[in-house]
Amino acid sequence: MVDDDAQVRRSLAKVIEAHGLATIEASSGAEALAILERDGEVALAISDIYMPEMDGLTFLREALRRFPDMAIVMLTGVAEVGTAVECLKLGALDYISKPVHIEEVRARVDKALEKRELVLQNRFYQQHLESRVRELDRRNKQSLINGVQMLVHALEAKDAYTSGHSARVSRYAVKTAVQLGYTGEQLEQVRLGGELHDIGKIGTREDILNKPGPLTLDEFRHIKSHTALGERILAPFLAESPSVLRIVRSHHERLDGGGFPDGLTGDIIPHEARVVAVVDAFDAMTTNRAYRPSRSATDAVLELQRCAGTHFDPDVVEAFLSAFPDPAALLISD
Ligand SMILES: [Fe+2]
Repeated sequence: MVDDDAQVRRSLAKVIEAHGLATIEASSGAEALAILERDGEVALAISDIYMPEMDGLTFLREALRRFPDMAIVMLTGVAEVGTAVECLKLGALDYISKPVHIEEVRARVDKALEKRELVLQNRFYQQHLESRVRELDRRNKQSLINGVQMLVHALEAKDAYTSGHSARVSRYAVKTAVQLGYTGEQLEQVRLGGELHDIGKIGTREDILNKPGPLTLDEFRHIKSHTALGERILAPFLAESPSVLRIVRSHHERLDGGGFPDGLTGDIIPHEARVVAVVDAFDAMTTNRAYRPSRSATDAVLELQRCAGTHFDPDVVEAFLSAFPDPAALLISD
């Protein structure tokens, strides 16, 4: 109860106490603010408008600035309708006209407290909702990662030679992409694309996948289909990660147009796919395959450099070598 008239203050406080609420009295806006500062927020303040020291409007403004959730009801004289409207604009929940009627005070107090309760509930709900959405988003991302792991394991169970290959390609691709300026979501897609680039081999016949000798033309055509097939398998799952799909489809394209599945050339090949192409080739060369033993890291690097400009994007080769200045150490650490 904020009023410089002790009698008004006391009688209103009595009405409110009889209504089941505890009251604190202050004789001016300044005193009321000091009490709030000292004891903390109250649910409801009823304030007169004309008071010495600090008027009701200033009190209203200052109180709401510090305690935005407080319900404030103004006491106004009959001739002060304009001021009352001003108060509502400033955030007062309601006003009571003088002379006051007990029933009206009770009704306005109840209504103001109800409104405040609603605001608080709304805020709680809002905050709760936001954290719930964040949690769902986190879980979504986690299930995506789990799904990716599941697919990679399925492929590795089928093709022993790709065991670890996907993880290494992903790791090499990420570090190379960082050198090339990739960050955030783009980098995440490179990570995922590296893991998934060969996923279409799930559809490749095992006798061809593990064939020790050279492939026939038909067999080679069958192997090549893992790019487009991988994209088709993942498309429904990764509609919001187009870079991943581009990596899966285009990681066997060559700058000179001699690659597959689309025979794209130069800059038309998606950049992220050019990144994976380089690190994929490096890992393929430095690990044992069904059809040949591994080469040394030095040999593999020479081969990357020899084919930069025709097969590989020279900038990507350079970025890979900056990311891994000593590729031989890379192999030992594996
Ligand atoms: Fe591949």
